[in-house]
Amino acid sequence: MTFLKAVQAGTMAGLMALACALPSAATEPASPEKVTHFEALNMSNGLAKTPPMGWSSWNGFGVEINEQLVIETIDAMVKNGMRDAGYVYVNLDDGWQRYKGSRADHPLEYDPEKFPRGIKYLADYAHKNGMKLGIYSGPGKDTCAGYTGSAGHEAEDADMFASWGIDHLKYDACCSHVKEPADVVRRDFLKMSKALISEKRDIVYHTCHCGWTNIWEWAGDIGANHWRIGQDISDDFDYPENREQYYFDVLDMIDRGVELSRYAKPGQWNDFDMLIVGLDGKSKELVGAGASNVEYRTHFSLWAMLASPLLVGSDVRNLDPYTLETLTNAEVIAISQDPLGLQAEKVRDEGDYEIYARELSDGSWAVALLNRNGTTADMTINWKRDLGLPWAKAAIRDLWDHEDKGTYDIPYTVEVIGHEAKVLRISKPAE
Ligand code: GLA
Repeated sequence: MTFLKAVQAGTMAGLMALACALPSAATEPASPEKVTHFEALNMSNGLAKTPPMGWSSWNGFGVEINEQLVIETIDAMVKNGMRDAGYVYVNLDDGWQRYKGSRADHPLEYDPEKFPRGIKYLADYAHKNGMKLGIYSGPGKDTCAGYTGSAGHEAEDADMFASWGIDHLKYDACCSHVKEPADVVRRDFLKMSKALISEKRDIVYHTCHCGWTNIWEWAGDIGANHWRIGQDISDDFDYPENREQYYFDVLDMIDRGVELSRYAKPGQWNDFDMLIVGLDGKSKELVGAGASNVEYRTHFSLWAMLASPLLVGSDVRNLDPYTLETLTNAEVIAISQDPLGLQAEKVRDEGDYEIYARELSDGSWAVALLNRNGTTADMTINWKRDLGLPWAKAAIRDLWDHEDKGTYDIPYTVEVIGHEAKVLRISKPAE
């Protein structure tokens, strides 16, 4: 049983480890209203104009990663259509480094047993296959899993990543900076941002701080492309009291992140954490018993609506047809990747029945009707009342049925099963 699983199972060792790692004050949700004032820097690497899409090793594999897994993952994503659907990043999370524990103060190196041909070999392999390679480090002396971090070596590590051909860096302060105030966290993320921007290579920058210190208020300004808005996701749609035990389930993450819509824009995204679609409770790392097919589809739909990066966390070498269909729905991905880059807002809240909406670059609207309740209900979208659109009629398309539902001059009502989200595209019909 891993540390994380031990915590959800409530074992004493796990709870003690959690208590040491995460003082309770730091795990309190930061208030989105609290504004932290810093001198404006307006730094930008000009990247990630739409939310990054790809695969990340953590949710499925934890630190059990190696060269063969990465090669097989790239091959699978080429073969199963994921690359062509837009999933181009293959991101190594924690565990690729050589040293750990008391030896973690060594210079950063890859583990030669896990990666016998080195990381550059994998970056070249990704590039040859039309994909990109991401890597992980952090501003502490060591990372969350106890491996060497980049503290004090930002410039040399950025040089090393660039020389390997790295395209994305997840830089994680979730454990090393738990007790640090926002100005220290920001200062340390800024060091790596400057180091990356000074490289000739384009490297997308993820500043991961588990939703603490109101990171959404300042991370974009120092050149970050995305930042986590919450603590680690668990493999659950709705797990009672999950959040009190550190983890955010799908509904927790939506509830936190939807308050932050105004911080998302092209190049700067709220990150709702890596996808759990297809994990089915089998993660080597995450807690959680898994979710149903419908719940995973709802999770995916909302991550697309809310303009989160879409980083698949399951084993893409073995996806069942339903899961692959969920992940490669081109019409839902088009919402995620819409160039206007507006994160959906919650436009209606009737207890368990919520409506999320965002305008798209062609003037149409994407709408998700979310039924948080376990039982089926009728839900209605009234584009005049809910979206403020003066249209006499609206054309409705269902993006999971892949079907035009017709043109309506009265509000559109549809049956939404328990925990489902209907995703619609609503447009003004030609006169
Ligand atoms: C933290 C992050 C996770 C993952 C692990 C790696 O917990 O939130 O996403 O990167 O560290 O150790």
